[in-house]
Amino acid sequence: MTIDTAPLIAKAHAQAEAAARAAAVTIRELTEPKDHAAAAEIFTRVWALEPGQSLMPTGLMRVMAYEGCYIAGVYDDTCGDRLIGAATAFLASDVEPRGGIHLHSHITGMLPEANGRHAGFALKLHQRAWALSRGLRRVTWTFDPLVRANAYFNMAKLGADATAYLVDFYGDMPDGVNVGQGSDRLLMSWALDSARTDVAANGTRIEPQIEPQNEESLLSANKVLLSGIAPGVMPDSGPPPDFGGPLLCATPAAIQTLRRDAPELARSWRFALRGALTGAMGRGYRITGFTRSGWYLLEQHEENERR
Ligand SMILES: CC(C)(COP(=O)(O)OP(=O)(O)OC[C@H]1O[C@@H](n2cnc3c(N)ncnc32)[C@H](O)[C@@H]1OP(=O)(O)O)[C@@H](O)C(=O)NCCC(=O)NCCS
Repeated sequence: MTIDTAPLIAKAHAQAEAAARAAAVTIRELTEPKDHAAAAEIFTRVWALEPGQSLMPTGLMRVMAYEGCYIAGVYDDTCGDRLIGAATAFLASDVEPRGGIHLHSHITGMLPEANGRHAGFALKLHQRAWALSRGLRRVTWTFDPLVRANAYFNMAKLGADATAYLVDFYGDMPDGVNVGQGSDRLLMSWALDSARTDVAANGTRIEPQIEPQNEESLLSANKVLLSGIAPGVMPDSGPPPDFGGPLLCATPAAIQTLRRDAPELARSWRFALRGALTGAMGRGYRITGFTRSGWYLLEQHEENERR
């Protein structure tokens, strides 16, 4: 039976356009070399690159755009059509099951002065509509699990799933954000046609069903893999948690500030979070959510299925 995907695609475009209007931005595909050079400038600023460093050569963006990959720019409607963000994504083949194609989103960056106005949300919804229009059903990307804002953005605002923990995925990264900090990443998978993504695309947050008092009870019931939610503190793995049932795992407040001002503490968080998450995943846990206050929620497969 053929499923008519036209309504889903039309709705995804409408959701993307509504988000762009709300953020007062226009999002366009970038096709010309001068636009790719402008996008490269955005990445240089967002990742604090030194002269001569490049995350994404302009020639590569040019050929990717020409060959039908996703290269898009975010223009500020309130400031003379200025470019304030950009994203690049390429087509990738599924490992399992073989034969399928999805989109892998390699770089998404918004200028810091544009943060907080939901323009990044609008950009991801534009990418979703673009992918659905081309028959794609899934977007993957990686992000640093220590960055609270990105964890919340990916899981609660977009409704994407964390599917794997990748240790030191990119090796040593020379850019000003990542230098000396290892490059562990969570692999995200965004099911573009799921009910959960539709809810998120309407602007509803997908937050774990953990009430503040429930969070307290998990904390006091030895259900915490790692604590240290307050700013500037060392990660504390404490005694081994009581495995079975949901677990919480803290992330550091403001990891970027720690990396600048207390790089050893930032590195301690890298190793502590790596140990906590990979250890629990090795016991059959999955990351199923992220709270606004900075906790990963982990559940065992069956618990998650029961919901
Ligand atoms: C990730 C990024 C693209 C998001 O773009 P943005 O324009 O900031 O996104 P939005 O304004 O739509 O959403 C940002 C969200 O971050 C989250 N956030 C920000 N600060 C947070 C904090 N202290 N704690 C928890 N969540 C936080 C929130 O979900 C916030 O949305 P909200 O204010 O509606 O709750 C942008 O922040 C960015 O370029 N970051 C640097 C580069 C990067 O990390 N890129 C992604 C990996 S390639």
